[in-house]
Amino acid sequence: MKNQGIPDDEFRGKPVIGICNTWSELTPCNAHFRELAESVKRGIWEAGGFPVEFPVMSLGETLMKPTAMLFRNLASMDVEESIRANPVDGVVLLCGCDKTTPSLVMGACSVDLPTVVVSGGPMLTGKYNGRDIGTSDLWRFSEDARRGIMTEEELNLAEAGMCRSRGHCAVMGTASSMACMVESLGLSLPGNAAIPAADANRKVLAQLSGRRIVEMVRDDVKLSDILTREAFENAIRVNAAISGSTNFVIHLLAIAGRIGVPLSIDDFDRYSRDIPLVANIQPSGKYFMEDMYYAGGLPSVMHAIRAHLHLDCLTVNGRTVGENVDGRRSLNTTVIADMEQPFNEVAGVVILKGNLCESGAVLKPSAASQALMQHTGRAVVFEDIEDYKHKIDDPDLDVDETCVLVLKNVGPKGYPGMPEVGNMGLPAKLLEKGITDMIRISDGRMSGTGFGTVVLHVSPEAAEGGTLALVEDGDMIRLDVPNRRLDLLVEEAELEQRRSNWKNAANRFTRGYVKLFVDHVEQAHLGADFDFLKGKSGSEVSRDSH
Ligand code: FES
Ligand code: MG
Repeated sequence: MKNQGIPDDEFRGKPVIGICNTWSELTPCNAHFRELAESVKRGIWEAGGFPVEFPVMSLGETLMKPTAMLFRNLASMDVEESIRANPVDGVVLLCGCDKTTPSLVMGACSVDLPTVVVSGGPMLTGKYNGRDIGTSDLWRFSEDARRGIMTEEELNLAEAGMCRSRGHCAVMGTASSMACMVESLGLSLPGNAAIPAADANRKVLAQLSGRRIVEMVRDDVKLSDILTREAFENAIRVNAAISGSTNFVIHLLAIAGRIGVPLSIDDFDRYSRDIPLVANIQPSGKYFMEDMYYAGGLPSVMHAIRAHLHLDCLTVNGRTVGENVDGRRSLNTTVIADMEQPFNEVAGVVILKGNLCESGAVLKPSAASQALMQHTGRAVVFEDIEDYKHKIDDPDLDVDETCVLVLKNVGPKGYPGMPEVGNMGLPAKLLEKGITDMIRISDGRMSGTGFGTVVLHVSPEAAEGGTLALVEDGDMIRLDVPNRRLDLLVEEAELEQRRSNWKNAANRFTRGYVKLFVDHVEQAHLGADFDFLKGKSGSEVSRDSH
């Protein structure tokens, strides 16, 4: 350590604080994190700690193939082992793009040291052709490009206008939902979720977080002191109020599994039910994260639903949730509403059960079409993503807008890695007719910025021999959201017959991380963690290296 030019007294009894950094130029959402780490360090020095910044695997949503989700558990292992093996007393997690938050929190939970999360913050609101845009618009633009309404040059300009500052996606996609998740769990300072990456207050929050982690080490406030069952219930309710990403379900389950709090997929429906949409942010609402910040940020959202929150939960600033949200009434009710006048009565996630998803499936009602909430339609089946791509724009595809699109083998084991392809684009010939939504069912995920009547995370997945694997073209499927049902209307005897003919595709992966993944990943309704990573091992290492 002395070769870094550190004075001797720095090593005498100061709390050593690790800054776990997901900076990478291949994760553009986190590309400003070295600068952010400097603010954290300043805070650690001020409070009498000694900061040590270290890199961990960084998961960028936009560039990684086949999907960043394939590597969430791998990154969590990197984080866990890096924290435990090195002599650190507390950790600051620098999280931004989607998977960087759950992977870091999962890994840190398995060590259970004092820990604070600092998020990188959302980008400024995008601008294109005189209007405000965000990542959700990109889906619309790319459909427009497919329909020939938008040229490639226009699409490029829109993309540049959308990404005009540092930070992660500026809508309530997965990254922002994860930032809200850590704040509602009590793992970040209040206000962390919404301060734009480009705003000077982001650095202030980072510096204050650095100061605070040193105090937390002195007071020995660990993750497990904050992550109680009540904290998880708060997070589910807040995710409903913001209509956060469906990915929240998988990541929160995985985090609960690490820290050892019992949480089931049914809890997400149970605790979401009485919460309306309070934050008017895309894709379920109209505005952007920047607007949410000006309207008071997440503390104002939590203030609006405080009657439904456990106000006595402890947070990393040493105060309770109730103390943090006290007096934080919304500054702009067109962006953050009162509970009494919400933007939508339906919010949160719905958990469906039925013979097509015995262990559960997820739907985000605020992003779906009301007219399709109770619908029976004929299945149009795609065996895998290649089959889908091959057929979807075929003018001879036998499909109309009353049909149900079914995509198999995009689950945790089937793809593998459960990519965000669940909101599959509609058939070109229906787009041309002006159709904008249809029921889509898969064992995959959807981007937090996506929308539509999309049933996701079907469990057990097709590659595990779930009923999804047995669906054939022409079968009737009934979606009944009010009654939380999803059923394949095929006689049980016929299903048994099909099941006996079903063959598990041979595992294509014989080596490397992907083999480990396929061998050990659990189903989506359990959080898609590895079976052997659940729980925690603490921070002690009993043996030395020399
Ligand atoms: Fe990183 Fe959207 S691509 S947050
Ligand atoms: Mg995403």
